[in-house]
Amino acid sequence: MDYIIAKSDKSTEKADYHLMGIFADKKTNHIDKKVSKSTTNTIIDSIKNSEISGEIGDYQIFDDNEIASKVIIFGLGEKKKFNPIILNRTVSSVIKKIAKTSAKIFSINTRNIVSSNLTISAQQLIIAMESSFYKFSLKKIEDKVKLKKCIFLSDIKISPKDFNNVAKISKSISNGISLAKDLGNTPPNICTPLFLSNEAKKLQKINKFIKVKILDEKKMKSLGMGSLLSVSQGSKQPAKFVIIEYLPQKNKKPIVLVGKGITFDTGGISLKPASTMDEMKFDMSGAGSVIGTMFACAKMQSKTNVVGILACAENMPGSQATRPGDVVTSMSGLTIEILNTDAEGRLVLCDALTYAKRYKPKYMLDMATLTGACLVGLGKYPSGLFSNDQKLADLIKKSADRTGDRVWQLPLYDDYFLELKTNFADIQNIGGRYGGAITAAAFLAKFTEDIKWAHLDIAGTAWETGENKGSTGRPVGLLVDFLLSNQ
Ligand code: BES
Ligand code: MN
Ligand code: ZN
Repeated sequence: MDYIIAKSDKSTEKADYHLMGIFADKKTNHIDKKVSKSTTNTIIDSIKNSEISGEIGDYQIFDDNEIASKVIIFGLGEKKKFNPIILNRTVSSVIKKIAKTSAKIFSINTRNIVSSNLTISAQQLIIAMESSFYKFSLKKIEDKVKLKKCIFLSDIKISPKDFNNVAKISKSISNGISLAKDLGNTPPNICTPLFLSNEAKKLQKINKFIKVKILDEKKMKSLGMGSLLSVSQGSKQPAKFVIIEYLPQKNKKPIVLVGKGITFDTGGISLKPASTMDEMKFDMSGAGSVIGTMFACAKMQSKTNVVGILACAENMPGSQATRPGDVVTSMSGLTIEILNTDAEGRLVLCDALTYAKRYKPKYMLDMATLTGACLVGLGKYPSGLFSNDQKLADLIKKSADRTGDRVWQLPLYDDYFLELKTNFADIQNIGGRYGGAITAAAFLAKFTEDIKWAHLDIAGTAWETGENKGSTGRPVGLLVDFLLSNQ
């Protein structure tokens, strides 16, 4: 979709729909000049009579015959509670409604939305709109969205050129989010480690600074990645280790992003129960978010040096599969007793974190659908955040606030590390009965040494279940914001 900006009282552009959000408490009596006098009066009356409440979900259409356009007034809820999450919810439900009609052009008054809250920018608004058009399906018949153009009616002082730039950046981010969604939603018979590595390879086409290297199992073996290989050995699909370099600036330490890329997690010999096992196709969402983030950065030609690392494997049971009780040697040299083959994410990530250290990263972030325990503890709204550096954790929280891609920090006390002790190796791959998200993070921390590192457990946030089942593309929004604000 194309986005243009116009002064709110001067626009003469024709539009099929005109949208305006209003707050539940601070009801406006200033309707756009664009709207005819008579419709304006009708709307103001409706507000006065409380026919329009301004609550979230409230929505009214007015036919404005004079300007040959429909005016939609929609609720934004209470002004002081307005944030990027509510923006997303309210805007996308309205956009989804008009996307079902034959409308091609719409305008939106951004006064309430954008200026009410400093953390909400035109960028967030465009991303919210673009995300509402997302659709994934392998169905033969697809419905096409007809909306082509959106006019921002605004009082913000911004030149058309600068606005164009904002739109370009926002679209790059949206495309990155959509790509992560597509990868997550692709069925696991198609989205294999090989498929993911090929998708990563395609990034080279969008920016000359992108270099993709793919290591096969033989190469991984020679590097000593015994932990990662212990996960893929039960599957016919060979593991792939993918390194995506985007280094537009010379001699600057990169931020390294590491993604868990389990293209299907059966649990291995510690087999999972059958119900909802299909959702374990989303177990590559960490890797998908890294690809989506790198796509966005490369597309908008951002300056930040980033390296993406994907640890891709399929976790299957079979006669060659790892047994509970097996001991393997990781690339770091630490030996690991595998007590549960379903705790496979940490086994692929530890070798990826060890590999990542060769870049001497400024920061190292890993994203993983790591534990059901994170979902139990935090629910499905925030990702679990863990870090060995509080300043880094705070920077990530700032990005979460700005984008609405929420995180909640959990502790990494020394006590948790004691749970990983075993008589048979340096470390075992599971902790005790409680705090499973934290003992998983503690396991990873053993492989980060002195590098400033953070881990995002996205088990609850990477996809939705039920009738809206599908990838959310999280935490691409958060990661891009983090990269752009910490170059
Ligand atoms: N991919 C799963 C975690 C998961 C489960 C994410 C359900 C989202 C929904 C991970 O590999 C796993 O199986 N973790 C185990 C760890 C346990 C064996 C210590 C878990 O959470 O049960
Ligand atoms: Mn598992
Ligand atoms: Zn898993």
